[in-house]
Amino acid sequence: MVYNEALILPYFLRHYRYLDGIHVLYETDSTDDSLNILMQAPNVVIEKCHIEGGLDDIEKIKLFNETVQRIKADWVYVVDPDEFVFPPYESPHDFLRRQTFDVVRSGMYQVYRHRDDRDLDPSLAPIPQRTHGDPDLHSTYEQADRASNSLYVKPNIVRPSKRISFLPGHHQIEGDPKASPELYVGAHWQMADPSIAIARRMERKARVSERNRANKMGWQHYDISIEMIREECARHLDDPNIDALCSFRELAVQALPSGARSDKPLRKSIARLKEQTSPESAITGRAYRDGNNMYKFDPLEHPICLSSPRRSVPFLSWRQHVPFAMLLVDILRPRSLVELGVHYGDSYCAFCQAVAELRLGTLCYGVDTWKGDPHASFYGSEVLADLAAHHDPLYGGFSHLIQSTFDEAVQHFPDGAIDILHIDGYHTYEAVKHDFETWLPKVSPRGVILLHDINEKQQDFGAWKVWDELKLRYPHFEFLHCHGLGIVAAGERPPEELSWLFEARDEKAAAIRNFFFCLGDRLTLSAKQEAATAGGSERETIRSRATWPVAKKFRVLIDAMLPLGTRRRAYARRALTRLKRPLASLR
Ligand SMILES: C[S@@+](CC[C@H](N)C(=O)[O-])C[C@H]1O[C@@H](n2cnc3c(N)ncnc32)[C@H](O)[C@@H]1O
Repeated sequence: MVYNEALILPYFLRHYRYLDGIHVLYETDSTDDSLNILMQAPNVVIEKCHIEGGLDDIEKIKLFNETVQRIKADWVYVVDPDEFVFPPYESPHDFLRRQTFDVVRSGMYQVYRHRDDRDLDPSLAPIPQRTHGDPDLHSTYEQADRASNSLYVKPNIVRPSKRISFLPGHHQIEGDPKASPELYVGAHWQMADPSIAIARRMERKARVSERNRANKMGWQHYDISIEMIREECARHLDDPNIDALCSFRELAVQALPSGARSDKPLRKSIARLKEQTSPESAITGRAYRDGNNMYKFDPLEHPICLSSPRRSVPFLSWRQHVPFAMLLVDILRPRSLVELGVHYGDSYCAFCQAVAELRLGTLCYGVDTWKGDPHASFYGSEVLADLAAHHDPLYGGFSHLIQSTFDEAVQHFPDGAIDILHIDGYHTYEAVKHDFETWLPKVSPRGVILLHDINEKQQDFGAWKVWDELKLRYPHFEFLHCHGLGIVAAGERPPEELSWLFEARDEKAAAIRNFFFCLGDRLTLSAKQEAATAGGSERETIRSRATWPVAKKFRVLIDAMLPLGTRRRAYARRALTRLKRPLASLR
């Protein structure tokens, strides 16, 4: 049932997007944007309803029961918008397919926002996020001495064909339908930001019906006071237990004996769950190995990786990574993104374009001296001028070009602030290692670092050696095309959303590489085609210039005298390009 849930609905819809259909009872009293949000979701069926007199559990459960029994489906989840359930270490479809029972229950935790996160931050995966056992304020009955850190169990996944009926509070079911001995894991989402929590819960308190009060139902709403909410929020903003549980993934949770409602087995269950959530646990390890995590990559959900870059540049040495760069921005929804080594801005503008097209609130910073280095060649102020003319009107609102050395710029960034860091400066082993180590503290716990040129072994390029070292230490993935791009999850909390990438092995990894190579190759091909078409008339202009025969002779001389692949030949060709830049487009 949805009543003024605009804050939480985007999470809810994202979390349950794998379901065939989401049947929503929409309370027409709602005054916020809930209806609009629901109407945009493809798998939602909206049924408008109204309960006279406000929040009344008896009326609500009647509506629930009628609706559940009308639905033609193998299984129905009966959840409120702030309830997120998921099966332990396997896909919901597999889990339910092998159930011989009519009801599956969920062990529900109270989930609170951590201080480092923004409430309802759309860049964070909804669940598993932070689970935290809490005094069970939301059970069906009040119990003063209820153990702290307990969880509650709800029978909330049912076969509708069995005409199962819930009792008010929907924690209990009429009769004795057979419940599965296995539990789903669930989270009841609470706001830890006092202003949001107070507004939300006091609004609900004001809507509790007289009948509810008389029947002592929904006591958690009508007994609540602003002070109690503040106190609860304060407890959770800095709770170290939340950090400890951040690594929670879908895990095996042994079920409680059927019908058990005492705290003892619940406490045992929590203890076991905590044990299992440690990264070293056999179960977590198996979940990783089996690749049964819920973050599977579906390219159709990320059309951004088909966007064509708006920036045109004279060199295409990064271009083939643009689709992956844009995808990364879509998946990670970074709060801040920094690039070290921008040059003409091929990679940087791709990141910015994704931020703009996805309408994210990301802050972007591109750092470069815009003077060049021995590998990229040295250049003049025209490069930054050309970049700024493209960048400022399109991305100036959220992105800053910082003309500085990397070492000077680093002090201006707070520790743990950067979610995506792209290192693409000078490429000797010492320089890359230095840049990585200097900037590492600035990367957030969920942050990733990209390293370009990890597959470039000519001359004194050394990113590949640094990469070999990093691979041993961090979850990572490498692309080998277009000079190579490495991605490491260098923070303490590798982003769950990228587990499909970091855990890909063998054919799966090869398929991912091939996929992004093909997308990237398509971009270089079309850029070359455009250059060839545009080059026709430009070529004529250049050739008509007096300098053309001189430049041509120089080129023949360079090619004849300096062996292919040597540094001297590369320098000479670059110098020639700088003297007569349009010649570069003819190659
Ligand atoms: C390989 S280019 C960057 C290419 C760019 N990412 C792209 O997409 O085309 C390297 C850039 O790093 C800059 N650079 C190298 N070392 C630097 C340092 N220590 N501080 C600032 N800029 C540096 C150079 O000026 C050069 O423009």
